Amino acid sequence: MVSVPLYASFRSIGAYVPEKILSNYDLEKMVDTSDEWIIKRTGIKQRHIAATNETTSDMGAKAALLAIERAGISKEEIDLVMCATVTPDYFNMPATACIISDKIGIHNVQAFDISAACSGFVYLLTMAKAFIESGMKKNILVIGAEKFSSIVDYTDRTTCILFGDGAGAAVICASDKKEEGFIDIHASADGSYADFLMTPAPGSVHPVSQKVIDERLNFVQMKGNETFKLAVKTLTKDVQEILEKNSIKASDIPHFIPHQANYRIIKAVGDALGMREDQVVLTVHKYGNTSAASIPMAINDLYQSGKLQTGELMLLDTFGGGLTWASALLPFCGKTHS
Ligand code: ACO
Repeated sequence: MVSVPLYASFRSIGAYVPEKILSNYDLEKMVDTSDEWIIKRTGIKQRHIAATNETTSDMGAKAALLAIERAGISKEEIDLVMCATVTPDYFNMPATACIISDKIGIHNVQAFDISAACSGFVYLLTMAKAFIESGMKKNILVIGAEKFSSIVDYTDRTTCILFGDGAGAAVICASDKKEEGFIDIHASADGSYADFLMTPAPGSVHPVSQKVIDERLNFVQMKGNETFKLAVKTLTKDVQEILEKNSIKASDIPHFIPHQANYRIIKAVGDALGMREDQVVLTVHKYGNTSAASIPMAINDLYQSGKLQTGELMLLDTFGGGLTWASALLPFCGKTHS
């Protein structure tokens, strides 16, 4: 028997943005900062913050339901649920993917989380591709969801201005059409930079204790300037490599969707690659950095604007804690939003 090759096809996108807005002006009242400084250094004007009783899984579930509806399949057809998050409902079990599955009515299906910070969503796409090409799964729900505000220290001006909450989700389906498959995807990591971006506790190094509370070790810590420089260098190299390997010119990419951490990083990488402004998707000004949710939220914005047409190529590129990074070249195989 001749087996037909299977390709992973990016079939749909959905996102959820919490209602409450935290503006730069709000932050001016909380820490020693200014709207002008934040916009100049990051491009961020505001970020959305989840309600106190709103969890990562609540947001992930809303994004997931939209993605499933837009994929035109039923929940019963989903055979794998994966969630990327560094702000799970619980440290460390049960997995947020299990809770999301239950909330949206998917039962008896494999579900698990991964932790790759801002690179989490593209990391999951590498796994979806492998599961589908191996024939193990057919319709995979991939979610990036973060309640980042739960690990942000709102007395630390160097980090609290950057992050926001939200969720994005996609459905990746098996297809026998080569033109629907991912063109290429690549993910990598370098743990020698682990201390550039971390939440020191809770964990086996620092289990919950009075020291954790007193020293605020449960909040995100970042070597911002060092991370910035490494991000620009790594992202530029990573994108150049994936484009060269696939003989695609940067100018031929209709949609470059980078991780939304800082406008200056996006601009520096875009300029180094010779990207035009109309190619680069930007959401950082309104959502801030939503970590694993950043790329699917940006794809969803592009989709809802009607600018993402069926078959058009997306170039994804991300960098985050770990340190981790990843890039992907893939066509959008859903229906154009009307
Ligand atoms: N308001 C006013 N002043 C500030 C603020 C603030 N919010 N934050 C820092 N400053 C001050 C600093 O104290 C410093 O003052 P000093 O010169 O008197 O010491 C000065 O501004 C410059 O600080 P830098 O840290 O050098 O500023 P920089 O230009 O690097 O911008 C930023 C900081 C925005 C954090 C930037 O470094 C950045 O975006 N880094 C990368 C973030 C990133 O990409 N992370 C990876 C993904 S996130 C993830 O994986 C979850």
